[in-house]
Amino acid sequence: QELLLLWALIGYLLGSIPFGVILTKIMGLGDLRSIGSGNIGATNVLRTGNKSAAAGTLLLDGAKGAVAVLLARAFAGEDAAQVAALTSFLGHCYPVWLRFKGGKGVATFLGIMLALIWPVGLLCCATWIAGVALTRISSFGALLAASFSTIWMFLTAHTDAFVLGVLLTLLVFWRHRENIWRLKAGTEPRIGEKR
Ligand code: G3P
Repeated sequence: QELLLLWALIGYLLGSIPFGVILTKIMGLGDLRSIGSGNIGATNVLRTGNKSAAAGTLLLDGAKGAVAVLLARAFAGEDAAQVAALTSFLGHCYPVWLRFKGGKGVATFLGIMLALIWPVGLLCCATWIAGVALTRISSFGALLAASFSTIWMFLTAHTDAFVLGVLLTLLVFWRHRENIWRLKAGTEPRIGEKR
């Protein structure tokens, strides 16, 4: 029990590292929270015009989720891996360092899925890429990938993390509620578009 709590904490701390904010600051691109949507994720880093910073944010925000899962699994087993998955996601969305105003969890979600059940992770990445490629709308790809994650779990017969998958999907939707309103209103910006 204490072991699970420990991995919950480690997961949270890893997830709460705001790589988007850190990279934009180091690279002198300004304060991410006063740019575009104000979100701390890779999509908003891209709005600074710096593609490497955006790619770096995507990779590092994904890696922190994956590292949390892999470390927890290696040291404490599958339950700890699932706990660290959830808390690293929550750490990204609600980081203590940014007064709990964090990101929307997409990159971290993908990293978690890749580490937890790699075939499902790959399918989620492909779904996300397909969604973004079709619409040029980042949030649409994210919502599509999250929605499909549990379907992919079923189809690949990897249902051990099904409850976690449902929970993460709901959280991704909750964090995108403003994007969902804009999608409904047809005002969600496409990648490369000024908002
Ligand atoms: O990864 C977050 C993305 O889905 C939406 O970001 O900045 O357009 O709200 P943003």
